[in-house]
Amino acid sequence: MLKIKDLDIFYGQAQVAFKTSLAVKEGEFVGIFGRNGAGKTSLFRALMGLRPPAAKGDITFKGRNVQGLPPHEIANLGIGWVPEDRKIFPNLTIRRNLLLGEKAEKHLSKGKRRFKLDDAYRFFPKLHELRDKLGSQLSGGEQQMLTVARTMMGNPDLLLLDEPTEGLAPNITKDVLKMILEIRADFQVTTIVVEQFSEALLQHLDRCCVMEMGECIFDDRPSALQNDEELKRRLLGVG
Ligand SMILES: Nc1ncnc2c1ncn2[C@@H]1O[C@H](COP(=O)(O)OP(=O)(O)O)[C@@H](O)[C@H]1O
Ligand SMILES: [Mg+2]
Repeated sequence: MLKIKDLDIFYGQAQVAFKTSLAVKEGEFVGIFGRNGAGKTSLFRALMGLRPPAAKGDITFKGRNVQGLPPHEIANLGIGWVPEDRKIFPNLTIRRNLLLGEKAEKHLSKGKRRFKLDDAYRFFPKLHELRDKLGSQLSGGEQQMLTVARTMMGNPDLLLLDEPTEGLAPNITKDVLKMILEIRADFQVTTIVVEQFSEALLQHLDRCCVMEMGECIFDDRPSALQNDEELKRRLLGVG
């Protein structure tokens, strides 16, 4: 579904990713771990066609070369991005926030079951309960769930989640993770999730990569990372 090959990423003269390669198959759940500044967000931005950064290399999505296309075209090809800063519209109702994620039918893959408003409310009943309240009335964790649900309203074929549990309390982190897993189980959406590290997430992934200073230094089954105490320690920034 997605193939990134030898991608170099730059901010001006500064290169922040070096010959990064990644292939994701339809339905896969892939995690990319890496410490702050490893280049995870830059990789997602390059994938979405956002500038900065500038990028050089090959990105193929559903068999089509998308490198160099503008962001709205890439989004319309079916990539849904949940940025790390959870942009919700604080002055719009939760229902409006969700409806803003909808896409015109012509942009959606044919023959797939659609994620609709009722699904958003089903996966996260609080959104239903508060549907006529303003976005600003949600807590950080609830805003995160709203952003994920809104992105799903666009029925992406590939879902990109940038540190969905960053800065959340442990019990809220659990809720967000549960919602993501339930959506995946129900809709089988191909997903790449980025985190600094998450033991709780690891066991649910099909594959995981580790980025360090703009390089993919690990790409294997989750159990391989699970057993690599040294690498885990490095990701957690201890020892
Ligand atoms: N807008 C920017 N301008 C210049 N350098 C940037 C910019 N954004 C990120 N960087 C640099 O790119 C590198 C990777 O950052 P980033 O992709 O945000 O990492 P991560 O998401 O893994 O924390 C870091 O060295 C960071 O300082
Ligand atoms: Mg980041």
